[in-house]
Amino acid sequence: MRGGRVGFVPTMGALHEGHLSLVRAAKAQCNTVVVSLFVNPTQFGPTEDLARYPRPFERDRDLLEKEGVAILFAPSVEEMYPAGELTRVNVEGLSEKLDGRSRPGHFRGVMTIVSKLFHIIEPDVAFFGQKDAAQAAVIRRMVRDLNFPVEIVICPIVREPDGLAMSSRNAYLNHDERQSALVLHRSLMRVEDEFRAGEKSVGTLIASAAEVIAQEPRVRLDYFEIVDPDTLDPVQQLEHPALAAVAAYVGTTRLIDNLILTPRK
Ligand code: PAJ
Repeated sequence: MRGGRVGFVPTMGALHEGHLSLVRAAKAQCNTVVVSLFVNPTQFGPTEDLARYPRPFERDRDLLEKEGVAILFAPSVEEMYPAGELTRVNVEGLSEKLDGRSRPGHFRGVMTIVSKLFHIIEPDVAFFGQKDAAQAAVIRRMVRDLNFPVEIVICPIVREPDGLAMSSRNAYLNHDERQSALVLHRSLMRVEDEFRAGEKSVGTLIASAAEVIAQEPRVRLDYFEIVDPDTLDPVQQLEHPALAAVAAYVGTTRLIDNLILTPRK
């Protein structure tokens, strides 16, 4: 039963430790935890992986039961998008940055479904992952702009022991691609090392990252950017905390990763 402070964790399922870290954060802060499982068609482009996105429903349900999740919301596409629905939610400008530039319409689909879920679930607080840093920025802005009475908590990235950020899409990688995929994290580590050693020029840092990624022939860089974490606008010099974000295709699988660079006072 629902009661007290309600925490909400929206997901597309195929759950891993990244998702479960959000569930645990929600459990620690809330009396009731609601998790949604919904592979949202409006956030996939026409040539993307909607049809083959993994949907291990029973496994996900069992995992959530073990975590003590009180309410699981797993609607059908027809329930969420009944015939004749027309409305979309767009965060003008911000939706076209980073992943929004590479995946036109993606954030429009994400903001539409997150708005609908917020209205249906009516949570006090909702939990998202830093893994999807651009998504987190767009959601924070939407909640502010549309006066949603929902607190947004962003949880740290959960990684495999070798550094690869956990993702439902890692399941697409074959053995060799799984090795190559480590280059995303490696490029971020290189940037962090150079930044710690005193490099403040974003141009220099991005060139180093691109060099690391170019060493992996199976990997095609989509973007490596260093931006303001709220506006997602590029910065030139690292004087304030900035988001270093990378997206790359490993074979046909598109992966993302990021880290925050915080100048020492
Ligand atoms: P999905 O990719 O299933 O991710 C659900 C949530 O888990 C997101 O907030 C995401 O940032 C977080 N997450 C994924 N991998 C993580 C990791 N390695 N560490 C920490 N958190 C991680 O993001 C979506 O679904 C959808 O866009 C959604 C918001 C559900 C709307 O459809």
